[in-house]
Amino acid sequence: MILKASNIYKSYGELPILKGVNLEVDKGEIVSIVGASGAGKSTLLHIIGTLDKADKGELYINDAAIHSLSANALSAFRNEHIGFVFQFHHLLPEFTALENVCIPAYIKGETHAQSEKKAMELLELLGVAERAKHKPSQMSGGEQQRVSVARALINNPSIILADEPSGNLDSENASSLHNLFFHLRDTMHQTFIIVTHNEELAGISDRTIHMRDGLIY
Ligand SMILES: Nc1ncnc2c1ncn2[C@@H]1O[C@H](COP(=O)(O)OP(=O)(O)O)[C@@H](O)[C@H]1O
Ligand SMILES: [Mg+2]
Repeated sequence: MILKASNIYKSYGELPILKGVNLEVDKGEIVSIVGASGAGKSTLLHIIGTLDKADKGELYINDAAIHSLSANALSAFRNEHIGFVFQFHHLLPEFTALENVCIPAYIKGETHAQSEKKAMELLELLGVAERAKHKPSQMSGGEQQRVSVARALINNPSIILADEPSGNLDSENASSLHNLFFHLRDTMHQTFIIVTHNEELAGISDRTIHMRDGLIY
């Protein structure tokens, strides 16, 4: 098991958002989370991704007890173990594709040479190597999203978390991004938790989890 979340609670002010969520994910699994807007999907993903802290509950990723890590330890853990892909790619506009992919590796302390070599390999694997020197504004939405997947992969994370990754893509680019996730799972045994409204993706996932009103069904 690569992730185990037990009895996760989260409120914003007086408003309860997560009401005791339990989730276990195996290595190499592709899990979709579906549910109406406001159900708490993004909140759960942020807590699993250590971007936000649960009010109560336990979270283990790769056997590390996340709920008891200090803030500094948490940043280092996030950098090495978790890759994020968002609906809007969040690439830095003033940097090239290659530089964007390298940033998490630089933060981890890899040399520029090592980082660029790995980043180029990933851009090739994802079919966007010819865009390496381009800035985000010079790429299509589908290409930008592939670059952000490369960025998510560069530190060989334990798990990739994606929040509506194809929400901003046309159906052809969406399908191609979804196929890429399965390819990465098949070739690298990569694990994914993906919040999605895309029925095709939910349908081909290993498991689909339904969220409603702060709970998983
Ligand atoms: N930082 C925040 N402060 C206050 N309320 C929030 C915050 N983030 C999310 N919420 C509220 O929590 C609920 C669940 O949000 P979210 O997890 O984004 O749902 P989903 O991703 O399923 O659409 C919503 O009612 C939203 O308004
Ligand atoms: Mg959301």
